[in-house]
Amino acid sequence: MKRSIAIVGTGRMGSALARALLQAGHRTTVWNRTIQKAEPLAALGATVALSLLEAVSTAEIIIVNISDYRATAAILHNHAIASAVRGKLIVELTSGTPQGARAAAKWCVEHGASYLDGAIMATPDFIGTDAGTILVSGPVQAFKANEGVFRALGGNVQHVGDEPGRANALDSALLALMWGALFGTLHAIAVCRAEEIELGDLAQQRTATAPVVEGLVADLVKRANAGRFASDDETLSSISAHYGSFQHLLELMEARDIDRAVVQGYDAIFQRAIAAGQLHEDFAALSQFLGAPA
Ligand SMILES: NC(=O)c1ccc[n+]([C@@H]2O[C@H](COP(=O)([O-])OP(=O)(O)OC[C@H]3O[C@@H](n4cnc5c(N)ncnc54)[C@H](OP(=O)(O)O)[C@@H]3O)[C@@H](O)[C@H]2O)c1
Repeated sequence: MKRSIAIVGTGRMGSALARALLQAGHRTTVWNRTIQKAEPLAALGATVALSLLEAVSTAEIIIVNISDYRATAAILHNHAIASAVRGKLIVELTSGTPQGARAAAKWCVEHGASYLDGAIMATPDFIGTDAGTILVSGPVQAFKANEGVFRALGGNVQHVGDEPGRANALDSALLALMWGALFGTLHAIAVCRAEEIELGDLAQQRTATAPVVEGLVADLVKRANAGRFASDDETLSSISAHYGSFQHLLELMEARDIDRAVVQGYDAIFQRAIAAGQLHEDFAALSQFLGAPA
């Protein structure tokens, strides 16, 4: 079913969202603080609203995509907008925290609006394609009733739970995973440069060893989930095996004067496990030493 939708914020991402909705035939109104950034969308069929109140008043669904939740609260949380959103659905696609999503959901409920929170796991060029991933949390009925709108934004849009903070929490966890790989790559580049290894060789061997790393990551998540921390017949590598290799890396870094910023966190976690007498347990035992209960 074609819907009337307002896109609040037409920066890089908001414009991509608007284009995808227009492409799918939804009646789309756009509003942006700096109107010049919204105007090009008129040529694609969008109505450019002159005020936020006008945009919100004309739509059944209000999709927000601006810089952060504080900015969203600053523009939405006033008497005029609160009256205009009653009975409508607000979809917050701005990046934020689980706490921010919970507070936004509370404000919507208090003002008679439905609320879904989404974490966009894609760059603007993926929006509207089969590979576009958006995680959505909030009441499943609100998601199901508007699934067609979400499908227009990306082929891989998933409802990840009724609790509004879940999408942002999962987003943060996935970012933690991604930055582990990216900062690890920075570190590997520093080691290669110090030892005069071509980065092309690093790229080649990274590809060759990727299945081993993927296997270790998958095994770690599985074991942490099951709480299987003791070394057993299926253990791929113990903390002590990793710690031995880690000492070789530290020695190389010391000799080559490589900055220790990236490895300090690893060392702190190893030391906590060693102090707790768990050096010979499965690597997954380290998951107990990051301050979050298993
Ligand atoms: N780009 C990506 O690859 C990507 C991926 C995933 C998630 N996201 C998220 O999507 C959101 C937008 O990102 P973007 O890449 O589109 O950024 P962007 O191109 O810099 O656009 C930022 C948008 O926020 C608006 N804005 C900023 N402060 C505002 C305020 N106080 N009141 C009203 N509007 C305000 C801007 O309006 P003006 O034009 O008036 O400045 C503009 O529409 C962010 O939360 C970002 O984390 C982006």
